Amino acid sequence: MCHFDISDSLSYSDLQNGLFFLRHQNKKKYFYADMSKATQNYTRITTRTLAELKAKGEKIAMLTAYDFTMAGIVDKAGIDIILVGDSASNVMAGHETTLPITLDQMIYHAASVVRGVERALVVVDLPFGTYQADSKEALRSAIRIMKEAGAHAVKLEGGSQIQDSIERILKAGIPVMGHLGLTPQSIYKFGTYSVRAKEEEEAEQLLKDAQMLENAGCFGIIVEKIPANLAKKVTQIVSIPVIGIGAGAKVDGQVLVLNDMLGMNKEFSPRFLRRYLDLHGTISNAVQEYTADVKKRDFPNHEEQY
Ligand code: KIV
Repeated sequence: MCHFDISDSLSYSDLQNGLFFLRHQNKKKYFYADMSKATQNYTRITTRTLAELKAKGEKIAMLTAYDFTMAGIVDKAGIDIILVGDSASNVMAGHETTLPITLDQMIYHAASVVRGVERALVVVDLPFGTYQADSKEALRSAIRIMKEAGAHAVKLEGGSQIQDSIERILKAGIPVMGHLGLTPQSIYKFGTYSVRAKEEEEAEQLLKDAQMLENAGCFGIIVEKIPANLAKKVTQIVSIPVIGIGAGAKVDGQVLVLNDMLGMNKEFSPRFLRRYLDLHGTISNAVQEYTADVKKRDFPNHEEQY
């Protein structure tokens, strides 16, 4: 049995040769063991992979997930990054904003996602109130997410105002992703979910913040709901990957909320959202059919009983 580091690349042919790797508890090592029937490409996405994708000009695909089952589907479908977003506060818990979700709740969602993922990089949001007060608290929150959920990186909203927290977390060896533009944890300050940084002053600050995030050592930045030209500028001035949501096409990758792109929510229809399914309709039809089958004694039938 031999072992290698998590950053080593593993290919489909490794698996065809009958090699299978087991994650050794929480240690970032994989061990070869015999397994002739493995058919997947297990090359793990790391922050280094993302830098390589940007350097190659290959776009990065990112989606949110909040539970084991969906995370497994999204991961096996080939997504690069899974974000356990604090949007769980809206789409999982039904809150109006992202503010109420707690660190314990984020850890619960993140741990479920991590258990379902074999390949994608799992990034987890630090929720509102767990990193703004001081950098020590920020580090403690990030450590809990890494230790208790097994996350691969954390994401924080904001620029210069939280620089101390970002730097302290990075110093502890925890990868950090920044988030600029529309930062939903500040919704009561903004007063609206409309496009940010349309004015020159805010755009200038956003560019400075992006540079600060790169200099501090962040591995990537999300830019949310900003003009496409500004997002393009950010992407040009920093060498780390810039992932957009409502920020146009001239960025290094895209992120969407999974429930939105699957069409589970009929009410939320921003211009940037492309729906790939009408899961709201599909699920509703299935539930109606099932209910009718039960009522008319069609389910279960003879073959569906013991
Ligand atoms: O919480 C979230 O889902 C996010 C994305 C919208 C980027 O931060």
